[in-house]
Amino acid sequence: MQENANIPVSSSTSEVIVINRRSFMGALLGIGTAAMGALLAVPVLRYVLYPLYARATGSGWSEVGAVSDFATAQAPIRKTITFTQRDGWREVVSSQSVYVHREENGDLRVLSAICPHLGCSVSWQQGQDEFVCPCHGGRFKPNGTHVYGPPPRGMDELPSRVDNGKLQVHFEYFRSNVPNKERLS
Ligand code: FES
Repeated sequence: MQENANIPVSSSTSEVIVINRRSFMGALLGIGTAAMGALLAVPVLRYVLYPLYARATGSGWSEVGAVSDFATAQAPIRKTITFTQRDGWREVVSSQSVYVHREENGDLRVLSAICPHLGCSVSWQQGQDEFVCPCHGGRFKPNGTHVYGPPPRGMDELPSRVDNGKLQVHFEYFRSNVPNKERLS
């Protein structure tokens, strides 16, 4: 009987114990590595997927000129503005033409020069006292109201403000050839 109590643990039993310890450590290491990988993957995934959920956004306000420059304007004045748009990772600097129209009460309105019909650039015709689109003959009053031709609406007015004596505009694009203004960006 005593002999049985002193029987040494068989080599196969100790191997099982060693293997169990090894697999436990291996599993622990695997879980740790997977957790670390997941943690590192989050910022990478956010970076890669950013363009899918990020909307194209405008940069804000662009300077048009000093308010005093338009104080005595008798006709719309054409200005070129620049603005930055962010689309996913890209940052695009664009230029566009706008017209500043002074109302009788002195208020300034900024109009996009993009024709609301199919997107040509309208220009002010001093002799005719109206805007004319060269593509299909659309015509507009000095305040942008539609007068004649295929454009389904008047010229698009842009959000504007005065800051520190400077007229600023927030440039936006609108869907063409629809009767109501539908902002695109
Ligand atoms: S694009 Fe201006 S009238 Fe057609």
